[in-house]
Amino acid sequence: MSYILEVQGLKKKIGKRYIVNDVNFRVEAGEIFGLLGPNGAGKTTIIRMITGLINKTEGNVLIKGSSADTNFKESMNELGAIVENPEFYKFMTGYANLKHYARMSVKPITEERIKEVIRLVKLENAIHQKVKTYSLGMRQRLGVAQALLHEPSLLILDEPTNGLDPQGMKELRDYLKELAKSGTSILVSSHMLGEMQLMCDRFAIIEKGELTHVASMEDTDREAAEELREVKLVVSSAAEASVLPVIASAENLRVADEQTLTFMAKYDSMPEIIKQLAGSGILVYELTPAKKSLEDRFLELTRQKEEAVL
Ligand SMILES: Nc1ncnc2c1ncn2[C@@H]1O[C@H](COP(=O)(O)OP(=O)(O)O)[C@@H](O)[C@H]1O
Ligand SMILES: [Mg+2]
Repeated sequence: MSYILEVQGLKKKIGKRYIVNDVNFRVEAGEIFGLLGPNGAGKTTIIRMITGLINKTEGNVLIKGSSADTNFKESMNELGAIVENPEFYKFMTGYANLKHYARMSVKPITEERIKEVIRLVKLENAIHQKVKTYSLGMRQRLGVAQALLHEPSLLILDEPTNGLDPQGMKELRDYLKELAKSGTSILVSSHMLGEMQLMCDRFAIIEKGELTHVASMEDTDREAAEELREVKLVVSSAAEASVLPVIASAENLRVADEQTLTFMAKYDSMPEIIKQLAGSGILVYELTPAKKSLEDRFLELTRQKEEAVL
């Protein structure tokens, strides 16, 4: 397996406090990897250390297998990043801003490449307008364009959907997925679980400077599917439903009223439950919950960790 980015034992100490403490993770080629955590968890600090904006207290950052410290220039050539809000000259056009960045780049950037990134982020129609006329979403896209100019292997975005409306979020998400498909790896941070759930292949949960869990979306879905959870069923007759084998044998079966039952079941067993109900002519009005959200998983994981500490 080839890794674009490897973060090993990363620490940042400020005063007596570790605001990042022993963080380890790896990002594969073409993968969208998320750093998920509440505000103040340490996401921006991790990203700032990876991009060399601040010094690490301890640890290693490897870009394509070699140390970012000893190969700083080469490493930075592989990275494109937007940390916090992208800064632009607001009284210049989007195009003039990109030209300006292109001139500052170590790697030569052709006119053709500038046009290509403008097309990629779909700013063709607005690129000759002043940045001050841009919406937040357009500024984010210009930021992505700027970060992509030198064709990095890894794009790093710190809370890129902050301030975007749902439509803007979807556009950015779809765009990043396309970019990843074409081989660019993406490291993205967010405090919004739903957003990460829709965007990432894998994600790490960062809490109080520590990485508490790494999971792929597939793992999370599978774990959630195998877990017992409470099901609420609203049917034409709770009495009839309660004697069906698949329900009668369920844990914690409770008849709440004439039409409502609750019991424990696996997500995977839902189809069989529905089949037996339909097969005996019982009408189903409601079956909840369908599936645990990442948010539930996230809360569960953080709760487990607190319990482990106590
Ligand atoms: N330069 C600094 N000096 C002191 N504390 C800092 C500094 N930078 C960040 N912190 C603290 O470190 C923690 C993590 O911050 P940050 O990395 O910005 O978190 P996130 O990006 O996840 O919201 C916060 O409690 C923040 O207040
Ligand atoms: Mg931050």
